[in-house]
Amino acid sequence: MKIAVPKERRPGEARVAATPDTVKKYVGMGFEVAVEAGAGEGASLPDSAFAAAGASIANGLDSLLRDADIVLKVARPVTAEEGTDELAPLKPGAILIGHLAALQHRDQVAAYAKAGILAAAMELVPRISRAQNMDILSSQSNLAGYKAVLDAAAHYGRVVPMMMTAAGTVPPARVLILGAGVAGLQAIATAKRLGGAIFAFDVRAAVKEQVESLGAKFVEVDAAAAKEAETAGGYAKEMGADYQKKQADKIHETLKKTDIAITTALIPGKPAPVLITEEMVKDMRPGSVIVDLAVEAGGNCPLSERGKVVVKHGVTLVGYDNVPSRLAGDASQLYAKNLLNFVSLSYDKESKGLKINWDDEVIKGTLLTRDGKVIHPALAG
Ligand code: NAI
Repeated sequence: MKIAVPKERRPGEARVAATPDTVKKYVGMGFEVAVEAGAGEGASLPDSAFAAAGASIANGLDSLLRDADIVLKVARPVTAEEGTDELAPLKPGAILIGHLAALQHRDQVAAYAKAGILAAAMELVPRISRAQNMDILSSQSNLAGYKAVLDAAAHYGRVVPMMMTAAGTVPPARVLILGAGVAGLQAIATAKRLGGAIFAFDVRAAVKEQVESLGAKFVEVDAAAAKEAETAGGYAKEMGADYQKKQADKIHETLKKTDIAITTALIPGKPAPVLITEEMVKDMRPGSVIVDLAVEAGGNCPLSERGKVVVKHGVTLVGYDNVPSRLAGDASQLYAKNLLNFVSLSYDKESKGLKINWDDEVIKGTLLTRDGKVIHPALAG
């Protein structure tokens, strides 16, 4: 069976879906691996490293994909309208694995069905402990949370830690993290290591203890309502109007004394909740920084702009797109490992190929299309 790893073609995407380490594993399992020339460049992984791991290096997308059984991608395929049709060369029955953003791009899911391929959307891997090592959202959000703090510090015209010098004492920066999931918890840990005074808020009550164990103060809004804020899958629900008002007042008060705010709040399949309004930005101290990690889902602050750093009302709003790609080396390494674990789930030692267990919860939760049809419960019908 042949695994193909194309070079990512979406603008700003520096990651790659396999690394020399994972290639070595696939080859050991009996797969043939072909990597498109230059695929690892953005992640500082030269073709020679892939070749040394046992991959062949392909020039040209068509020849790479034509006879591929499995295609490993980071971002969803680009379409003909976007310049290159990455789907067209695939043969029916080929398996496409990547962050397909399936809930946001349903037309493309229909195209996968039409092409007769099996498409696996890694962002939909269920949040069960067995699947943790395949969870691309966690592995990439963790890095984004870390990088958000470094980006904030880089745009902040003051220091983060307290400094006692002969010329006077500089107080520590007050850092507020909104949304304490995977990205938020890593942001807390990173900001703490930099020496800031850290405050954090999340709608899910379960988070309070985790926040405090990392040395941050939890901003409490309504403890009773927060107990109802979590789905069985561990994600946040959309909150009612009364709670939202209380939350907004509390965040507004806290922001007046905040130097750096990092927002990470997401609701799966929905626009990101607005947590910092324009009125709140106006009340922040000049020189403050907001890093909006939710900017791709519409943003937690309406003033942040996707892919840009802007200054409004004296506050710097950082809205970098695709933050994990800004750490392409480690992001690729973890992402590639997530994919290897996912492929391994269906690996059959005897045939040295795949034997998919269609009833497996992880397969059912991830697989979008099969036999020309859209089969995922969230999308079918
Ligand atoms: P996410 O990226 O969907 O959301 C980020 C954070 O924003 C979440 O903590 C969410 O509660 C929070 N949020 C949503 N709306 C908000 C609002 N209005 N105000 C403030 N905060 C708001 O979630 P993420 O980080 O991917 O995961 C959330 C949780 O899922 C984790 O903390 C963990 O408990 C659980 N999880 C379980 C896994 C497993 O068992 N395999 C793997 C990864 C996460």
